[in-house]
Amino acid sequence: MWITQLAINDLRVIEQMKLIPGRGLNLIVGDNGAGKTSVLEAIYLAGRGRTFRHPEAGPMIRGGAASTMVVIELEHGDGEKRSILGVKRERRDFVCRLNGLDIKKRSVLAETLPVQWIGSQPQQLLAMGPDVRRRFLDMGMFHVEHCYLGVMAEFQRALKQRNAAIRQGMQDAVRLWVKPLATAASSLSRIRETFAANLLTRTAEIIRQWDVGFDVDYRYRRGWSGGEDSLREQLERKTELDLRMGFTTIGPQRAELEVLSHGALAEKKLSRGQQKILVVALNLALMDLVIAKTGNAPVLLLDDLGAELDRHNRQRILSEIHRRECQAFVTLIDSNLLEPPADEAATMFHVKHGALFSPAAPSE
Ligand SMILES: Nc1ncnc2c1ncn2[C@@H]1O[C@H](COP(=O)(O)OP(=O)(O)OP(=O)(O)O)[C@@H](O)[C@H]1O
Ligand SMILES: [Mg+2]
Repeated sequence: MWITQLAINDLRVIEQMKLIPGRGLNLIVGDNGAGKTSVLEAIYLAGRGRTFRHPEAGPMIRGGAASTMVVIELEHGDGEKRSILGVKRERRDFVCRLNGLDIKKRSVLAETLPVQWIGSQPQQLLAMGPDVRRRFLDMGMFHVEHCYLGVMAEFQRALKQRNAAIRQGMQDAVRLWVKPLATAASSLSRIRETFAANLLTRTAEIIRQWDVGFDVDYRYRRGWSGGEDSLREQLERKTELDLRMGFTTIGPQRAELEVLSHGALAEKKLSRGQQKILVVALNLALMDLVIAKTGNAPVLLLDDLGAELDRHNRQRILSEIHRRECQAFVTLIDSNLLEPPADEAATMFHVKHGALFSPAAPSE
């Protein structure tokens, strides 16, 4: 699956932009504030139904406009099947259509247009709280484990019910939800742990191949000690505590994935550039798992490739993208940051004040 046309209306500085991207690497080049990240934001909006910059939609809508609209044409397989995905984001409302039919679930968007986003400060994945890494794992599981949505829904339902009973101080109901919660929690935890192991093993392989002078390891804490029986016992034992705290204090909602290098947290041990390399490797590993499972690569969105990476590592990342034959949108402030061969194999877009332009050919 790949994007054959992208039309953006009223997204930040972009009033109207139409792009015909290449099937492989697309480089988006321009000065600060030109609208490069906004192009990635448009694709992300179509694939995930929200922006990666902040929780609310308002700031994304161009000043003076009532809504942001993104229309994407997709081709699947060998060009036999095409579809049109349109999303319209108003301040309060959000409408998505696939081939003219309304889509109600974000999961349908994510299946139609799987996107993998590496932001301009990807080190945050290592530095921020455990929920960020849990979401990263869960997003990967969504694409790789077919049972994930059902297992997650079951767990969330049980957790919500037990927490509601806790808030109402209904001790018997709190106890009643222990067994279903422990069963659902164990199923979720099992697939998350296996997924984390596969993901980090692949990441460590990539980092080893790159020979960048650091190693990668991990520790996964499932959110309680022991297995399903032990979770049931501990939930029973913690009834009083949970009633006092007002929520369920143990379980996979507290799981933590620690990414390590040389035996310490990567975030504390590695330089900024090394952390960026590690997070890119994590994302490429995730892509490899998705490709192995589905035969389809997600669309890769990589913001600000130039920042914090030396020329060698920038080039290395671009050749890894080439090797995976995925469609990628990569932003850069200056195309001179790249070696010519990567340039030639890429489709290049220059943006200025939210619009595409053709730079004048250099004079002889
Ligand atoms: N709601 C909005 N309406 C109009 N313009 C906006 C709105 N929100 C943000 N902007 C402007 O849109 C531009 C956003 O650009 P974007 O973040 O895509 O730039 P960029 O090319 O990625 O820059 P950088 O290299 O600094 O990351 C900025 O100039 C910003 O001031
Ligand atoms: Mg930017």
